[in-house]
Amino acid sequence: MTLSDSIAIVLAAGMGTRMKSSRPKVMHEVAHRPMLAHVLRAAHQAGLSRRIVVIGLDMDEVGEAVGDIPGETSFAIQTERRGTGHAVMAARQALDGHRGTVFILFGDTPLLRAETITAMASGLSGADISVLGFRPLDPSGYGRLLLDADGGLEAIVEHKDATEHQRRTDFCWSGLMAFSAARHLDLLDRLTTDNAQGEYYLTAIVEIARKTGLRVAAVECDAEDVMGVNSRAELAKAEALMQDRLRVRAMAAGVTMADPASVYLAHDTELGADVVLEPGIVFGPGVTVGEGAHIRAFSHLEGARIGAGAAVGPYARLRPGANIGAGAKIGNFVEVKKSDIGANAKVSHLSYIGDAEIGARANIGAGTITCNYDGFNKWRTVIGEGAFIGSNSALVAPVRIGRSAFVASGSVVTADVEDDALVLGRARQEVKLGWAARFRAKFAKPER
Ligand code: UD1
Ligand code: MG
Repeated sequence: MTLSDSIAIVLAAGMGTRMKSSRPKVMHEVAHRPMLAHVLRAAHQAGLSRRIVVIGLDMDEVGEAVGDIPGETSFAIQTERRGTGHAVMAARQALDGHRGTVFILFGDTPLLRAETITAMASGLSGADISVLGFRPLDPSGYGRLLLDADGGLEAIVEHKDATEHQRRTDFCWSGLMAFSAARHLDLLDRLTTDNAQGEYYLTAIVEIARKTGLRVAAVECDAEDVMGVNSRAELAKAEALMQDRLRVRAMAAGVTMADPASVYLAHDTELGADVVLEPGIVFGPGVTVGEGAHIRAFSHLEGARIGAGAAVGPYARLRPGANIGAGAKIGNFVEVKKSDIGANAKVSHLSYIGDAEIGARANIGAGTITCNYDGFNKWRTVIGEGAFIGSNSALVAPVRIGRSAFVASGSVVTADVEDDALVLGRARQEVKLGWAARFRAKFAKPER
């Protein structure tokens, strides 16, 4: 079946009490992207281009988090959190007479993949409702799927409502199900709050469907794909699983990592072929690394673009807007922010480069600082191609150093420097011959 004429309802209104957070649970991030955005992206990739996200009253920030996902995402408000069944009912109006299939997804399953959604859809070929189940290592907390003798699904019983015997089954509900909007949405009218938590459970729809003679299929998927995140510990577990996926994907695309477990990637990290990542590198969002670039140990990168064959680190910090040209070198204890570093330029040691443009092949000596901030405004430093900045220079922006110009070590440069010029912005050296010996003779105590 093609999912393009189906709609997804994504439940995201829960308080997430167990997270002990002032942020909505689905806004907590995995690999630098909100959990909800991961789910919506998987839905989009599965072909579910129309999505209704059920949110609570005070959750305006959710809209921004999902704005970049293609397709149509709308929101329905669940004014009171009265359970997962109640949340689906809150989306009813937004369905706007839709008569095709609805897919119910949960916003707290960030590892969900498009293939998993498609697999669930296959359950609809032999049944009226398809429910996605999995077998987690630790099933506690999840609803259990109770099968009949023919393998059909009889009921889902919540952990809190389950008997000891029922809890022994490890087949659990993932939170995903699919059914016809036209034929089965009305089953929700029959939900009650007669359960341990006094909520309208979506899970109860299975028993109700069975009573009306409908068939419910349970499709099993990989446990990792649908783990639910309800606590910080589970968030950390989801992060670890996601990191593994991202690392495996990067290595499959031709990236070398000597110690993958020590490299932290973001959901959108782009790494070219033959990139080498040494141990202990952290990627924030928005980093692109060109082919053959080498990132050395203990570097932190976010919002940066690194050209082909460039070398970064060890111990480098690239902040948003750092644009490192092909073959350029950024060495240890160098911080670069919102700056273009030209091809084959070198900033090898202990420098701060902010709001700057550095021409190709320029050499920036150790300890160079672009003084870009006066307490109110940020100013630019422009350094021409092939310029040589001597060590321990302070370039007070706004300032421009010409092509192939030479800044003497220890200079404080406050005015523009012409192409090919030498600038000395430091005290002139004075030497007094014999002074040290005279000084000692005057003050040293005679030896006894
Ligand atoms: C739920 C299921 C459980 C399943 C597990 C899978 C129910 C009753 N339980 O338990 O069977 O094994 O997920 O992860 O369905 N939400 C709302 N409005 C509400 C309540 C919840 O939108 O009033 C949303 C939450 O934001 C969340 C999802 O529904 O995205 C699931 O809610 P959660 O509280 O996490 O349910 P679980 O206890 O995990
Ligand atoms: Mg949950």
